[in-house]
Amino acid sequence: MSEPFYITTAISYPNGRPHIGHAYEAIATDAIARFQRLMGRDVFFLTGTDEHGLKMAQAARDRDLEPAALADEMSSYFREMDEKLNISFDRFIRTTEPAHHRASQAIWQAMVDKGDIYLGRYEGWYSVRDEAYYDEKELVVADSGEKLSPQGTLVEWTVEESWFFRLSAYQDRLLDHYRDHPDFIRPESRRNEVMRFVEGGLSDLSVSRTSFDWGVKVPGSDDHVMYVWVDALTNYITGVGYPDGGAAWAKYWPADLHVIGKDIIRFHTVYWPAFLMSAGIALPKQVFGHGFLLHRGEKMSKSLGNVVDPNDLIAAFGVDQLRYFLLREVTFGQDGGYSAEAIVNRVNADLSNSFGNLAQRTLSFIAKNCEGILPLGGKGDPADDALLALVGETTRVEMPAQFAALGLSQGIEAWLKAVFACNQYIDTQAPWALRKTDPERMTAVLATLCRAIRDLAIAIQPIIPASAAALLDTMGVPVDERSYADLSDEGSYGRLAGSDFRLAPPTPVFPRLELPAEG
Ligand code: MSP
Repeated sequence: MSEPFYITTAISYPNGRPHIGHAYEAIATDAIARFQRLMGRDVFFLTGTDEHGLKMAQAARDRDLEPAALADEMSSYFREMDEKLNISFDRFIRTTEPAHHRASQAIWQAMVDKGDIYLGRYEGWYSVRDEAYYDEKELVVADSGEKLSPQGTLVEWTVEESWFFRLSAYQDRLLDHYRDHPDFIRPESRRNEVMRFVEGGLSDLSVSRTSFDWGVKVPGSDDHVMYVWVDALTNYITGVGYPDGGAAWAKYWPADLHVIGKDIIRFHTVYWPAFLMSAGIALPKQVFGHGFLLHRGEKMSKSLGNVVDPNDLIAAFGVDQLRYFLLREVTFGQDGGYSAEAIVNRVNADLSNSFGNLAQRTLSFIAKNCEGILPLGGKGDPADDALLALVGETTRVEMPAQFAALGLSQGIEAWLKAVFACNQYIDTQAPWALRKTDPERMTAVLATLCRAIRDLAIAIQPIIPASAAALLDTMGVPVDERSYADLSDEGSYGRLAGSDFRLAPPTPVFPRLELPAEG
C-alpha cells in the first residue's frame, strides 16, 4: 500500500475574481502534489473557497447581491481557473456546504467541552480586509492619521459581545511544539517570526460575531456566527471526513502540508494548532508560507489597477508556459516579480530554445531519416554514458530531493542544466553528419538522446504536465511507465524501441512566444 500524502492550499475568498496570486499558490501546490504522485504516494489534494465572513457580506452588499449568490458565482471562477491551470485537486471544498457547517460546529463543541470557550465582550481593532483582530501595539498610523494593520489595511474599533477562545493557555504548548518539530513552520524565516510573536504572549481570541449573520451558527448560541477563521481553517479536516471519521480520515489526517501565503501564517501556525490541540485532534505536519507575487515590483491591488487576471496570461502565453515561469522564476518561499517580458524571455530561452529544440531536433530527425523507428544499440562511446549518467543523477536523485524539500525552482534549475548538457552533446556529436560517415555511431547518439529526453520529460511532469505528457505521447512512452520509478529504465526504452511503434513527425511542443502588443 502506498504511503498517503495529504496536501492543501489556502481556501480563497471569493469576494472577487481570482488573480495571479491565487493562480500561483494553486500551481505551486499542484506541482508538489503531482511530484508526490509520481513518487508513488497516495495523494489527496484539497482546495476550495472560503465563503463566510464580513468581507464576503460587504462585497455582496456592494453589488446588491445575497452573499450566497456572490459566493456561487465567484467560487465557480476559482474552480474554472483551477481546471484551466490543470490543477489536479481531488476535492474542491466550499465552506457553505452543509457538511462543513457540521464539521465547524463539531470542532467548536470539542473546544467547548475542553473548557476553552467562554462568553465575553470584545473591544478592539478589526480589519475586515484581513478578517483579523490586531493589538494596539501592532498598528501603524498612516499619513492621513488613519490606523492601519501591519498588512497596511484599515482597522476599525469594534465592540461586541463575543465568545472567546482561551488562546493564552496554549502559549507554552505551541512553543514546545515548534521546538520539538523544527519543520512545522517553513521556511525558517517565517518560523522565527512566529516564534517571536508567540513568545511575546498571546491574548485570548474573539471567535464569534453578532453584528452580521453570514457564517456558521455557534452551537446553542443562535445569535452568534463563528469568526470566519474558525470555520475557514476547519475546511482542512472537513475535506477528509471530520467529524464522522471513515477511510479518508484514517488515511489522510494529519495533513502532510498546508501551502499558504506569508500573510496568513499566524492563522495557520498559532490559531489552527491551538484549536486542534484544544479539540484533541492531531496537528498537521508542516505549514509552508510562500511569498507574494509582485507585478513589476509592486504589490497588486485594485486601487493600483494592476490586478492581473490569470485568464489573460493563460491566453497570451499558455498554461504550462505560465506554470513553468512562476515556478522557475520565483524561489518558493520568497516574493517574486513577473511581467510579460520576463515570461516571454524565460519561456523562449528555457522551453523553446533549450528543451523544445532538443526534442524537436532529435525526434524530427528520427521521423525523417530513420522511418520513425526509435534507435537502439549502435556504436557506443564514453560520451553517451557520461550524458546518461548526468541525466540519471539529475532526474532520479537531484530533482526528487529538491522537489521533496520544496525547492521547486532549484529542482527546475537542475533539470535545465541537464537539458543544456544534452544540447551540447547533440552539437558535439552532430548526428546529421554521422548519417553518411558513421551510421552505427549515429544510431547510438540518437538512442542516447531519446533516453535522455524521455527521462527529462518524465521528471519535469509536475511542472509542465500537459506538455511533458504530449512529448511522452509522441515518443510512445506508455502512460503507466511515466513515474519516477520508471526513470532510466533500460527495459522500458528497450521494449519501446523493439516494438512496432513508429514516431510521427513531431510538432514543436513549445512554439516561440512573441511579446503581446500593449492593449
Ligand atoms: N480565505 C483566506 C484563507 C483561508 S485558509 C484556511 C485568504 N484568502 S485570500 O483569497 O485572501 O488568499 C488566498 C491565498 O492566496 C492565501 O494563501 C494568500 O496568501 C494567497 N495570495 C493572495 N495574494 C497573493 C499574491 N499577490 N501572491 C501570492 N499569493 C497571494 O487569505
